[in-house]
Amino acid sequence: MSSAAQAPAARPDPTAIVRLSTAYWESQTLLTANRLRLFDALADGARSADEVAAALQLDARSTALFLRACAGLGFLVERDGRFENAPLAATFLVSRSPAYMGNVIRYSDQLYATWGQLEGALRSGQPALPAETYLGDDPARTRGFVIAMHERALGIARALVPLLDLSGRRAMLDVGGGPGTYSVLLTERFPGLESEVLELPGVAAVARELVAAAGASERVSLRDGDYHSADFGTGKDVVLMSGMFHRESAAACRGLVERAVACLEPGGLLVVSDVFTDEGGTQPAFATLFGLNMMLTAPDGGVHADAEVMRWMKDAGLRELRTLPLPPPMPHRVVMGVKP
Ligand SMILES: C[S@@+](CC[C@H](N)C(=O)[O-])C[C@H]1O[C@@H](n2cnc3c(N)ncnc32)[C@H](O)[C@@H]1O
Repeated sequence: MSSAAQAPAARPDPTAIVRLSTAYWESQTLLTANRLRLFDALADGARSADEVAAALQLDARSTALFLRACAGLGFLVERDGRFENAPLAATFLVSRSPAYMGNVIRYSDQLYATWGQLEGALRSGQPALPAETYLGDDPARTRGFVIAMHERALGIARALVPLLDLSGRRAMLDVGGGPGTYSVLLTERFPGLESEVLELPGVAAVARELVAAAGASERVSLRDGDYHSADFGTGKDVVLMSGMFHRESAAACRGLVERAVACLEPGGLLVVSDVFTDEGGTQPAFATLFGLNMMLTAPDGGVHADAEVMRWMKDAGLRELRTLPLPPPMPHRVVMGVKP
């Protein structure tokens, strides 16, 4: 018998199982604190649990337990029975902070119940949340979705915009451009660049407000349309497809790449930004879970590998192909190609 056969198999450490089986405790604590606007209630200084309970109309005993849990998670600091925001909460969870992430978190909060229907979605093959709900049919949810995308894009843009050199380029098509945030920031950074955002009507209506509020309506226009059927036009020198491949099948993505290439001038650039897996599809874990999140919320939702996007671009005739990860904590990667 070989020595390898004799060696007892090392017993795996079950810590991850224990941790993951209760990870939703942490999520729900953060989501609830954000929903209650707890961090705003502490934005002007420390308060006792009784004061917080009175301000937020909560039960005093329960609130004391809740605040201690928030402190345990690092969101609050407790001193002499009074609680204040820790730097993490003060920076990202207070609504007057420029780096506020509360609307993105609220969108996750809305999907908490949807994730509870994972088993049903696995059986039916249908999303637990009909995509139309947040893409126009329910105005309040649509607005919440667009504002969350805007807030998230503002964060991601700090890494994405410096990666893209669009100097000298004039005409961009932002397919499924959502709130138009990237179009606003890129046209601001590269004078002379104008962008057309192609979006579903319910989303475009909210985006028009955001673009106007940014003072960018002169250089960023919104066109109502379905990117599956809308004419992409001609004469573009940049096409941006950000955060939409995860809603689409591989065949649909391939078709979108081909239509993007057709509307580009020679020398034109296609930029595809999204959460992608490595080749093989099982890593990083966040990307695989993101694929489930999209499965739960869009009929063809999932996740693709960036290597696959590069193959679609190559097959469509693009050259100078590159894929770049955005820096942590952003899980996004950017795949780019140039039309010869
Ligand atoms: C995750 S969001 C990304 C938005 C934006 N590009 C960004 O990265 O912040 C996907 C966008 O695709 C849009 N979308 C989905 N299906 C569409 C379709 N058939 N035609 C046009 N837009 C669509 C959605 O309304 C949504 O704004």
